[in-house]
Amino acid sequence: MNASPLKPQVHGIFDKATWTVTYVVHNGSGTAAAIIDSVLDYDPKSGRTRTDSADKVIDYVKTLDLKVQWILETHAHADHLSAAPYLKKKLGGKIGIGDQITRVQKVFKGIFNLEPEFRLDGSQFDALLKDGEAFPIGELSAKVMAVPGHTPACVAYQVGDAVFVGDTLFMPDVGTARCDFPGGDARALYASTRKLLSLPPQTRLFMCHDYPPNNRPVAFETTVAEQRARNIHVHDGISEAAFVEMRSQRDATLEMPVLILPAVQINIRAGEMPPKEANGTAYVKIPINAL
Ligand SMILES: [Fe+2]
Repeated sequence: MNASPLKPQVHGIFDKATWTVTYVVHNGSGTAAAIIDSVLDYDPKSGRTRTDSADKVIDYVKTLDLKVQWILETHAHADHLSAAPYLKKKLGGKIGIGDQITRVQKVFKGIFNLEPEFRLDGSQFDALLKDGEAFPIGELSAKVMAVPGHTPACVAYQVGDAVFVGDTLFMPDVGTARCDFPGGDARALYASTRKLLSLPPQTRLFMCHDYPPNNRPVAFETTVAEQRARNIHVHDGISEAAFVEMRSQRDATLEMPVLILPAVQINIRAGEMPPKEANGTAYVKIPINAL
C-alpha cells in the first residue's frame, strides 16, 4: 500500500550499541527511498567493523523492493561510524550531508593533523545540501533545514509531514543534544529547536537517538505538539537564557562518547576509512590531551 507523498512511510531501525536510529523513508513498496543516519558497527577493543546494523537496512529495502536514491547524514556523528559507503555499494544512491560540513572538516583536520591531501571542500560526499534546499526522493520531496548547535553543520530533513531532526531534540523525557563538541553552540541549538517547534503541531518528528530513562521502552517518534508541551529542556515557556545555562551546566558533566575519536575521523570522510598506510592497513589516530 502506498502512502501519500505528504505522509510518507518511515521505518526506524534502532542500534542498541550506539542508541542510534537509522531511518528508511519511502512511499510504499517499489518506490524510491532515502536512508538517514546509517550505522557501521565498530568494536573499539579490536578495531574491527561489522555490518549487522546496515544489513538490517538492506534487508528492509530489499523486502519492499525500494530504490535507494539518497543516503543522508544529519551531521558528522561522534557516537557511531556511518555505513554510507557500504550501503551505497550494495544499494546505490547518493551520499548527502549539510554544506557546513566543510567547517567541521577544517576543525578536525587540525585536531587530528590529517594528511595534507585531506580535502576541506566536502567533496568526499556526493551532495552538499544547503539550508532551504529541496530535492526529490522519487515522488517524495525533501527539504533541508539547517539546525546548528550540536555541531555547526547539523541539518534536519523534512519529507512531507515527517522531519528527521538529527541531534537537536530528543524524546520529551530526554530533552536535547549536547553542545560541547568543537563548534557546538547552545544558543544556536535553542534557535534550532524553536525553528523545528514552529512547524505545524501534528508534524511527526523522528529522533536520531533515544536514551530511555526509567526503564521506558525505546521510542523515537513524537510530534511538535508533544515536544512543545513536554520536552524537559525546551517546552514552551523556557527562555534562551535558561536553556543555555542548563545546557552548559549539563554538558560540563558529560564524558566524551566512546567512539568519538574513530567516528569523527571516518565520518568527515563520508564514512570512508583513512588512506591505507604502506603495510596495507588503515589507522585512526588518538590525539593526546587535545580534545
Ligand atoms: Fe551527534
